[in-house]
Amino acid sequence: MPSDMNIVGVKLYLQGKLTEGGVSISDGKIAKIGKESTLPPSSKTLQGHRLLALPGLVDVHAHLRDLELSYKEDYFSGTSAAAAGGFTTLIDMPNTSPVTDSAERLREKMDIARRKIVVNVGFNIVPSNLEEVTKAKELAVGYKINLVKPWSDLSLDDSTLTSLINRAGLIGKMVIFHAEDGAMVSRLENEFKENASIQSYYRAHPPEAEDVAVARVLGCTAEQTKIHFCHISSVGSLRLIKTAKQQRKKITCEVTPHHLFLSRERASKWGGISIMDPPLRNREVAKRLFSALKKRAIDIVGTDHAPHSIGEKAQLPWWKIPPGIPGLETALPLLLTEVKRGNISLKRVIEAMAETPAEIFGLNRGKLKEGNPADIILVDLNRRFKIDSSIFFSKAKYSPFDGRGVVGKIVKTFVGGKLVFDENRIVEAPGAGTILTPKNTWA
Ligand code: DOR
Ligand code: ZN
Ligand code: ZN
Repeated sequence: MPSDMNIVGVKLYLQGKLTEGGVSISDGKIAKIGKESTLPPSSKTLQGHRLLALPGLVDVHAHLRDLELSYKEDYFSGTSAAAAGGFTTLIDMPNTSPVTDSAERLREKMDIARRKIVVNVGFNIVPSNLEEVTKAKELAVGYKINLVKPWSDLSLDDSTLTSLINRAGLIGKMVIFHAEDGAMVSRLENEFKENASIQSYYRAHPPEAEDVAVARVLGCTAEQTKIHFCHISSVGSLRLIKTAKQQRKKITCEVTPHHLFLSRERASKWGGISIMDPPLRNREVAKRLFSALKKRAIDIVGTDHAPHSIGEKAQLPWWKIPPGIPGLETALPLLLTEVKRGNISLKRVIEAMAETPAEIFGLNRGKLKEGNPADIILVDLNRRFKIDSSIFFSKAKYSPFDGRGVVGKIVKTFVGGKLVFDENRIVEAPGAGTILTPKNTWA
């Protein structure tokens, strides 16, 4: 049977190695992978010009906003940024306005997203009560809890957390944590509010706040529940997670590119753009995080793409600045630059940005494999360029990485076999992506 399209003349990333060949796509799926001579005939053949063909990346931590926060980002701009950055699947966070705290709210959100997305998107909710955990079972990927600034009415005492974790585990769902101790942070924030310096932000979010929260979550966990820690940024919490992983299996964690490649020593020149939560740590810690990622003590990279308007990022005093930066369009080139420098293997990068996030979140994606959805990116590892936030598809057109020289240009992004991003342009209409629910896409 002829295929819908053959991509030929590429270097395929297969089981950790690069192999010359091509891919056949039929019905949005990878029908065949192999040498060009083994592919079925097709009326449409795309010459890959020896570009790398990698699995589409999976980012389990993106704030796509939309709804009342569309001025910061909407589903089309955010998923366009994803496609331009090589991400074909995202998991969206629930701290929107209105907040996604129930199955009903999630249904409404999905209806809006469905018409706008150009990559695949799954969703977390932050339940307003324990009943919503069960009600959202058929819709949500998992439950996201922010311990520093609760996003819903759910009480976050130990007993409720334990019940939430138990309930989620019983229905085979994960719980995802922003682990920072809320009480400690608000006490310190009040203490340093008088001091105008941006340094006060760091003092209000010390690594100990992360360590305490991680320890607390680990104390509440039930054997059967998958727990995922977002954006780990302290040596103490890394240690706690390492020990916990040795005792029980279902604990995973993530690091952001900004915690890997930026440190607070140089942050003053970025002003409000340097504010993210958790905050940047020092250079030594960034190095430790990179080494932990290499050694798999940190499982995956998550961008924590958290767009805000540039006006909001320029506000003073420091405690008014919303934390977060856009990350979808810089993550892969930053990591590939380290591959080029010989600091990390391509295998580890693809594992951490595609294979393992898909595995942890139960997605049948993240690998170039016959039968999988044809989420594929073509990348030029030799093309050097400078990060330029003025050409971001994200509405947040700023980045502390601006001007940084990188390699690894994303040339084409295919989502479910459709060419969505082609040489600096989005070429598919809004709505080309798929809404992921446990029914249609989870393993
Ligand atoms: O930097 C951050 N930005 N950290 C968070 O936990 C929230 C996020 C956001 O939504 O802006
Ligand atoms: Zn967070
Ligand atoms: Zn986040």
